[in-house]
Amino acid sequence: MQDDDKVAAARAAVAEVRDGMLVGLGTGSTASHAIRLIAEQARAGLRVEAVATSEASATLARSLGLTVLDFATVSRVDLTIDGVDEIDSCCRAVKGAGGAMVREKIVAEASDRMIAIADGTKRVERLGAALLPVEVLPFAAAFVLRHLSGMALAAEVRAAGAKPYWTDQGNLILDCAGLDPEALDDTAQAIDALPGVLGHGLFLREIDAAFIARDGQVEQLLA
Ligand code: A5P
Repeated sequence: MQDDDKVAAARAAVAEVRDGMLVGLGTGSTASHAIRLIAEQARAGLRVEAVATSEASATLARSLGLTVLDFATVSRVDLTIDGVDEIDSCCRAVKGAGGAMVREKIVAEASDRMIAIADGTKRVERLGAALLPVEVLPFAAAFVLRHLSGMALAAEVRAAGAKPYWTDQGNLILDCAGLDPEALDDTAQAIDALPGVLGHGLFLREIDAAFIARDGQVEQLLA
């Protein structure tokens, strides 16, 4: 059922893809449904090119026959469709459970329009239950951990089994508990200001609209 809702949300967003667009492909299970649906439309004749927010999504898209451009050569994207870990009524979100939030934010910022897609379990009244991921240069990990702790964020290095989790860029992720929903802007700014931080999963202004599906019903949120 939850998976059906992910597909329903993805379908609503993919309906906005038009011929000739350059589309940003998100990361995660919901975004993967969108990638499959876009590929289906491309096989049916829709002309689209794509950029991807992770190596996993690029690999999936290419395996389905989509043309994926190197984002390093791209300055503007028409429409990006991506998942979230939590989203509120104002389209503010926490992202990055899949570890891709740095590329996701860059691609979102480059996009004329960014649509979030999710099943109803992601819709919250206040952000803060999901862990907030912060990507750091490995060199700065201990320094950033200490400063996050000074902001009352309990951070831990993300692991993949017995080893640290490495991002597509070769960096570490610090997953933070204790995000204060009343201080989202201040927290985002304070984390952004720490040397060694490459980015974080708080998306406070990047998302233009969201499609949230629950029991087959799709709700649209506007920022
Ligand atoms: C990837 O880094 C995240 O921002 C994803 O967009 C997020 O984790 C959503 O994933 P699911 O669609 O699998 O829940």
